[in-house]
Amino acid sequence: MDKPKVFIAKPIPEKVEAFISEYCEYRKWDSDERIPKDKLIENLADVEGLLTSGTKIDEEILSYSPKLKVVSDISVGYDNFDIEAMKRKSVMGTNTPFVLNETVSDLVLALMISAARRITELDQYVKQGRWKKEIENDGFGVDMNHATLGIVGLGRIGEYVARKAKLGFNMDVLYYNRNRRLNIEKELGVEYENFDDLLKKSDFISIMVPYNKHTYHMIDYREFDMMKKSTIFINTSRGQVVNEKALIDALNNKKILAAGLDVYETEPVSPDNPLLKMPNVITVPHIGSATAKTRFDMAMLAAKNLVKAVLGEVPPNVVPELKDLL
Ligand code: DGY
Repeated sequence: MDKPKVFIAKPIPEKVEAFISEYCEYRKWDSDERIPKDKLIENLADVEGLLTSGTKIDEEILSYSPKLKVVSDISVGYDNFDIEAMKRKSVMGTNTPFVLNETVSDLVLALMISAARRITELDQYVKQGRWKKEIENDGFGVDMNHATLGIVGLGRIGEYVARKAKLGFNMDVLYYNRNRRLNIEKELGVEYENFDDLLKKSDFISIMVPYNKHTYHMIDYREFDMMKKSTIFINTSRGQVVNEKALIDALNNKKILAAGLDVYETEPVSPDNPLLKMPNVITVPHIGSATAKTRFDMAMLAAKNLVKAVLGEVPPNVVPELKDLL
C-alpha cells in the first residue's frame, strides 16, 4: 500500500524525520527562513498531513489542500489555527502540550529573577566599565522570596510556575483562571483571586493564558492602572494578550517597576520598539521552549500526532476545539 503523503514545513531533527519516513512519503522545507506562502501552497495540493509551527492555517490555505486531514503544530499555542475554517474543512489540528512545561516555567522564573535583581542592566554596567564603587540604593533590586506572585491563567505551565515559586521562593501565589483548580489550591496552597484584585495585590504578575478572541488585549491601560508601582510584569504567552502601547505607557510613566518579555505584538520585534531601549525591561526572542531537548521532544510529539492522523488513528493531542472531528 502507498504511504500517505505529508509536507514538513520547517526543519526538524534527523531522528524525527527518520521516524516520519517509516510511515509517510514526504517533502520538506529545509531552510531556517520561514517558508514563503507561495512555496507552502505549492506543496499542499497532494498531501494529507502538514507539519509546521505557527503557520497561519486559514480558509485560503485550506482551499489549496483538498486532501489535508491534519495540521500538526510543533508548539503548545495554536492561535495560528482558524478553528472554524478547520471545522468546516474537517481538518484536524494537533499541538504539543506537556513536554515543554518544565522549560517554559523555568523561563518565567528566570525573567522574574532577572527583572527583580536587575541582572541584564547590571551586566551591562559591569561590561561597560561603569563599576567604580560599591552598589548602593540606585543598584538595589527587590526580593522574590515571600513576595506575592499573581498568575493569570493557571494551566499546565502556570501550575509549574506556581510550584517553583512556592517551593523555591516561598512566594504567596494568587491565581486567576476560568475554572478554579481546587486540587492545586490544596496541594500547593495557592489562592484563587478575582482578576482585578489579583492585579492590585501582586508584586509579580505572570501572564500565562492562550491567545484567542477572548484574551486579545486582556491586559490594557485599565489593568496596568490597577497594578502596584512596584509590580514586575512577565509575559511568556503571546504578545497580543497585552496592549503593548499600554505596557510602554505603564513603564514610561512608572505605573509599574519592570517587565520581562518573551513575546511581542509583532515578532520578530522591531528594532525601533521603545521597549528595547528600557533598562528595566528584559527582552528575549520567544525562547520559552527553546532548549535542545525540549524542542526535540516537541518535534517528535508533533511527528507522532501527524503520523497517527494520516494513518487514520487517533492522534494523542488533538486540540480541544477540534475533538468533535474525531
Ligand atoms: C509554544 O509552544 O506555544 C511556544 O510559545 C512556542 O511557539
